[in-house]
Amino acid sequence: MNARLRQLGPGEYDVLDAVTAGLSATSRYLRFHSGIPRLTPQTRDLLAAVDGRDHLAVAAFVGAEPVGIARLIAIGDARAELAVEVVDAWQHRGIGGRLVRAVVDLGRAAGFREIVADVLADNVAMRLLFASVFPDPDVVEDGAEARLTAGVPAAPDDGREDRRWAA
Ligand SMILES: CC(C)(COP(=O)(O)OP(=O)(O)OC[C@H]1O[C@@H](n2cnc3c(N)ncnc32)[C@H](O)[C@@H]1OP(=O)(O)O)[C@@H](O)C(=O)NCCC(=O)NCCS
Repeated sequence: MNARLRQLGPGEYDVLDAVTAGLSATSRYLRFHSGIPRLTPQTRDLLAAVDGRDHLAVAAFVGAEPVGIARLIAIGDARAELAVEVVDAWQHRGIGGRLVRAVVDLGRAAGFREIVADVLADNVAMRLLFASVFPDPDVVEDGAEARLTAGVPAAPDDGREDRRWAA
């Protein structure tokens, strides 16, 4: 079954909670850089506070089930920090890549020019995902973490953006 993508609005705690619940301990660790069993109320509020301008998010659904979220949060100077997670049961099916491309499409329209992702150095999946979306990223290793940076790619001019969302 194909995943469907849509932009998240503010306060969609149900989607956030469902995706968080579907992450294994390893995936939670890779996403949040700590072994948290659940989101703190503060983090939950922060992640649900999507505003369509400085904080953009796209979620993937299989049927009614939320299976992943990608988000961009402004960090100044037309730069945004990227974070993405896909529930373990739906990883390795192209959903993470689609989510990142979709949220970057929104980010481009919102005026972001550069994307930054701080990842654990051994997060091979995210590093390869980032490189598959952003050709030739800048990589700065910093001990257990790595900072990946890339310019927002130009918008496709042949309608592919629409197909990407619909696929
Ligand atoms: C990183 C993550 C979002 C990838 O999601 P996904 O849906 O499995 O990724 P995709 O299937 O779309 O793969 C996209 C690309 O990433 C690469 N990739 C993803 N997982 C990989 C893995 N385990 N090993 C090697 N490459 C991998 C592939 O190169 C793939 O490119 P391709 O489409 O050309 O084959 C997912 O593994 C996850 O949620 N991990 C836990 C949270 C996390 O680490 N988030 C990132 C920190 S913000």
